[in-house]
Amino acid sequence: MNITVIGQGAIGLLWYHRLAQNLNNHVSLLCSARITSVPQATKFTDIDDNTSSKALIPANNQILRHAELILCCVKSYHVVEAIASLKNRIDVNAIVIYCHNGMVDFNQLPDLSQACYTLLTTHGSKIIQPFHVQHTGLGHNDLGLIYGSIQQKKQAQVVKALATALPSLTLSHHIKEKQWLKLAINCVINPLTAIDNIENGQLLQQKYSIIIDKLLAEIISVANKEDIIFSFEDLKNQVLDVAEKTAKNCSSMRSDILKKRKTEIDYINGYIANTAKKIGISVPEHEKLIQQVRALEVK
Ligand code: PAF
Repeated sequence: MNITVIGQGAIGLLWYHRLAQNLNNHVSLLCSARITSVPQATKFTDIDDNTSSKALIPANNQILRHAELILCCVKSYHVVEAIASLKNRIDVNAIVIYCHNGMVDFNQLPDLSQACYTLLTTHGSKIIQPFHVQHTGLGHNDLGLIYGSIQQKKQAQVVKALATALPSLTLSHHIKEKQWLKLAINCVINPLTAIDNIENGQLLQQKYSIIIDKLLAEIISVANKEDIIFSFEDLKNQVLDVAEKTAKNCSSMRSDILKKRKTEIDYINGYIANTAKKIGISVPEHEKLIQQVRALEVK
């Protein structure tokens, strides 16, 4: 397949390397316009600590026109800009896949006639140096159609390309529920670990139980209005389970704060706060965390 990956971050480069390992794929990388010098090769350290390099094929207009699959792996606050940059440059039959943390309001995106999917991944990866990525944890991918329609045969081809590159993968017909579950997990783990500068596992301490309960109660009431029904106990268990399984990890938001980068707070807790406002619900605990993270961002 002709595949273009957008974004030179940890997830973008992980997909670039894994997809390019299959010689049936022609994979290119569309880097952010902010990158002034793009190297000729990228490095990849696999889960067993073996490092290899691959030629970096930058996506130009001609490559983009022939792309059958576009995997958008930019931060949530760059999605609108990245998709706008594709307008009139990609084929109507190209398939666009969004892979980012948090929720983007799709009403803000420029009209795309292409079929769009969302891809939720629990694979762990980190940037060791610019254009050198390490695969740090095996995970699972959930893929679900969020816009448009697609022929079965084409969908099977996409699923095969992605599942072969980075197993395992499930094609989900309930992707909205899964997006909300991931959002709930992010709403708890990301801001709390960023504000207190702690590893994910430390959230299992008793002292975090009350704030976690309050955050979950707010999420559940907002989700409910969006026809997503969570049981409190079940949701809490899932959040704590992720905190336990990623106990030694530095969450993406904590790592953004430590590296003095903008965080995705507006698309995580901010998404809950905005949705709550629209439907007339108050979410004071989320509002508080948003303010605290914003204060850390400007330091
Ligand atoms: O954003 C992150 O860091 C991850 O999605 C998660 C699940 C919170 C684990 O660190």
